[in-house]
Amino acid sequence: MSIRPSMYSLVLISLLSVMACSEQSSEPVIAQQGGSESPAGVTNNVAQAGANIAMDIYKSPTCGCCGKWVEHGEQQGFSLTTHHPADLNKLKAEHGIAPEYQSCHTIVSAEGFVFEGHIPARYIREFLMAPPADARGLAVPGMPVGSPGMEMGDRFMPYQVLLLKRDGSAEVFAEVSTSTQQYR
Ligand code: CU
Ligand code: CU
Repeated sequence: MSIRPSMYSLVLISLLSVMACSEQSSEPVIAQQGGSESPAGVTNNVAQAGANIAMDIYKSPTCGCCGKWVEHGEQQGFSLTTHHPADLNKLKAEHGIAPEYQSCHTIVSAEGFVFEGHIPARYIREFLMAPPADARGLAVPGMPVGSPGMEMGDRFMPYQVLLLKRDGSAEVFAEVSTSTQQYR
């Protein structure tokens, strides 16, 4: 079993782009406590009943893909308040997000649920409508190419949305096998 060159270069390109994004987000962060980048009142034109859900998002100020996810979230009816903590890793640890489940940004809901990484908004909404018992939140570890905020042309890497449990374990919440599935 050898990887075909075309496949290999695709994987390499994907890897490089992910590295480029994480490199941005790993730059030293200057504390901007209380800073908010979310313009107020722009999410009220979403044509979905009860769409507006207010949440906090924690990210690095230089993370480009995080900013793109914020656009996705707001288009999907979330009202996001952006924070740039000095120590993002500490925040993730405090919320019980183990390294293997981590991604670039962390969202915390009003109820204290966490949503880690490039999760399509529809799954966050699904979760919040009926939070599973003993759940801490959801996570898309790493940064799959083609997930919301990680668009690269029409490339798409299938991935799973994981349900993080209070006991530190995780199970599959959703299999995302096509790009369109993310926006249903
Ligand atoms: Cu990202
Ligand atoms: Cu991000």
